[in-house]
Amino acid sequence: MEAVERVLRSGRLAQGLQVEEFEALFASYIGSKYAIATSSGTAALHIALLASGIGNGDEVITTPFSFIATANAILFCGAKPVFVDIDKDTFGLDPSLIRARITSKTKAVLPVHLYGQPCDMKEILRICRERNLILLEDACQAHGAEYRGQKVGSFGIGCFSFYPTKNMTTGEGGMITTDNGDIAERARMIRSHGQKERYIHEVLGYNYRMTDIAAAIGICQLKKLDEFNRQRIEHARFLSERLDKITGLSVPFIAPDVKHVFHQFTIRVTRDFRMSRDELKQKLKDKGIVTEVHYPLPIHKQPVYKELGYNASLPNAEKACAEVLSLPVHPLLTEEELDYIVETIKNI
Ligand SMILES: Cc1ncc(COP(=O)(O)O)c(C=O)c1O
Repeated sequence: MEAVERVLRSGRLAQGLQVEEFEALFASYIGSKYAIATSSGTAALHIALLASGIGNGDEVITTPFSFIATANAILFCGAKPVFVDIDKDTFGLDPSLIRARITSKTKAVLPVHLYGQPCDMKEILRICRERNLILLEDACQAHGAEYRGQKVGSFGIGCFSFYPTKNMTTGEGGMITTDNGDIAERARMIRSHGQKERYIHEVLGYNYRMTDIAAAIGICQLKKLDEFNRQRIEHARFLSERLDKITGLSVPFIAPDVKHVFHQFTIRVTRDFRMSRDELKQKLKDKGIVTEVHYPLPIHKQPVYKELGYNASLPNAEKACAEVLSLPVHPLLTEEELDYIVETIKNI
């Protein structure tokens, strides 16, 4: 609050020194050379794709099991999302299915580190190098997550969201991370109406800038991120240990060699459970426990995508949509509240 007040009193509210400082701190946290702050995660994805040269007629391989912004950003560029099914354990893009979907039009791969768990980056990187494809990472749910000790968002061009539910927030906001100076320069131009020099517009751009108010919040939140993540991981461990042996429920799988930062703690409610996932959700709500389904429909089955002619069958994503339920895992939960969640589920 003090940081925001200082910005308000400074008289410089948008795209100023606070944004610059936040970008430098975030780049250093992720381990990338450059960071470009944006008005949202969606804007970060849109800019990152445009700055990578993705445009009309190009194909981008991505996951059908994500928030819709991932695929929409590809459509915004006039390109086509090509959906590859997910790994049923990690919920991330299944690398073994990528090669079969590569065509002469494929320009990039856009995996999503869903729920805070990194995708299988070794395999995805191998495919991108072998087939000369650009790697973009949707790390909107994975601030601070690591694959083999390396932070996500530093493998390819990283895109982050700072929406209030995320592991850290700026109210609304986003960030692009990259080691590529040309991409960084193009991204900065596209963020601000395609200009490098004031009122000289070299390319088509947008107003996707971050305010200094948001950046001031981001600087404070970034300092707390590791502690927030530690608490999320501890809460996830507490819940996993106690909910592990219930027939029909499966607790999150954690892949070897990753740091999962539990943006969500998402269980599966299978047919063997004594009631449906939606009934469980309602019963928990009646007891004061709010849960959420991330996500009830895969992207290729969303009305807007059906309208575009998508009709493939992607069984792992579809099954996940029918079974997943995210329980509270955020840093403010007390041990008493965590116990209450466990006991309520056991009683049900
Ligand atoms: C996986 C994923 N991608 C993209 C976004 C878009 O971010 P934003 O809401 O900041 O535009 C979000 C978050 O909402 C997300 O969870």
